[in-house]
Amino acid sequence: MAILVTGGAGYIGSHTCVELLNEGYEIVVVDNFSNSKPESLKRISEITGKLFPFYQMDVLDKKALDQVFSENTIEAVIHFAGSKAVGESVSIPLAYYQNNVIGTVILCEMMKNYGVKNLVFSSSATVYGATDQVPITEDTMLGAVNPYGRTKLMIEEILRDLSESDETWSIALLRYFNPVGAHRSGRIGEDPNGIPNNLMPYISQVAVGKLESLNIFGSDYPTKDGTGVRDYIHVVDLAMGHLKALEKIRSKRGVDAYNLGTGSGYSVLEMVEEFEQVSGQSIPYTIVERRAGDAAICYADVTKARNELGWSATRGIHEMCEDTWRWQQNNPEGYSEESKIKQETRSPVLKTAVGLFMSH
Ligand code: UD1
Repeated sequence: MAILVTGGAGYIGSHTCVELLNEGYEIVVVDNFSNSKPESLKRISEITGKLFPFYQMDVLDKKALDQVFSENTIEAVIHFAGSKAVGESVSIPLAYYQNNVIGTVILCEMMKNYGVKNLVFSSSATVYGATDQVPITEDTMLGAVNPYGRTKLMIEEILRDLSESDETWSIALLRYFNPVGAHRSGRIGEDPNGIPNNLMPYISQVAVGKLESLNIFGSDYPTKDGTGVRDYIHVVDLAMGHLKALEKIRSKRGVDAYNLGTGSGYSVLEMVEEFEQVSGQSIPYTIVERRAGDAAICYADVTKARNELGWSATRGIHEMCEDTWRWQQNNPEGYSEESKIKQETRSPVLKTAVGLFMSH
């Protein structure tokens, strides 16, 4: 019995694959590499010393998805695959509705056909919109403010309808706050396309000298130092949350949403200072206008995840910055061709692992 991980080569997906393999789960990974690289899969194998089947395909491709379900005995699905850039979703909304919403519908149809009714869905705190009501509980009013957020909200509603129609489904909706950090090994981490939109990858690219200076979006928010406050969560803690959710849906039917955050908020300036301390580099910055759509302050109430999943984050901002910095220093170009060559000459595990990757 295996766990199907869609989008398993991506940032959160790859870290979750590592934790699943470490826990002894069998996994099957699908990814279309639209926002990830094959290299991350090789590194999952390298870190864990384990092999797993992989299909390069789109979840929109029904025939390919059917093949995955018919060739493997799938027990549950962790669904990460989807598009995630807020700005891009405003320019190409149809692509977002297609990839995220239609992709999830197709996946659920296939799960239904094969009698697989356990699903962990990668949602986001973005479903709370730009609320300033903190801490945010799972009962805080929902309301997305951009197409990306609306796709997450629509999917949550679709999954609730599905569960309503057939009580044998077990679904966890995981609402991530701000995922940062990287695996301790420095081998896998966040590899954004082009100039990063999010704070942590931007800071770390300034620290490593790839970008000159950080723009801080506003210093007149009603927060401790005027800059935006967020609930940053280490990606390995987040990955562990998926394992706990998986355990939960094996024993409980219906749909439940869980906030995955630390419950603490840090300002942009606090993150900059911590990163400077950890890296020993200075992070020059300029205060600019607020970014449209940004909330002043956003952090989670994590009581539900703690009580019902038995999960809470254990890694603080020091570790988040340390691990981000290790990843950034070791992989200044992300999973580039260069880092691929370097790794191939260094790791004998790699060749065995490559042998197992099955391309659709
Ligand atoms: C953003 C998305 C959110 C998504 C999340 C994924 C927007 C409006 N929101 O959240 O939908 O779920 O990423 O992780 O894009 N900041 C700067 N300078 C920068 C980048 C960010 O000052 O170059 C500030 C922001 O104003 C904010 C904080 O840093 O106060 C965090 O920003 P970011 O990392 O982009 O995350 P969110 O805006 O919380």
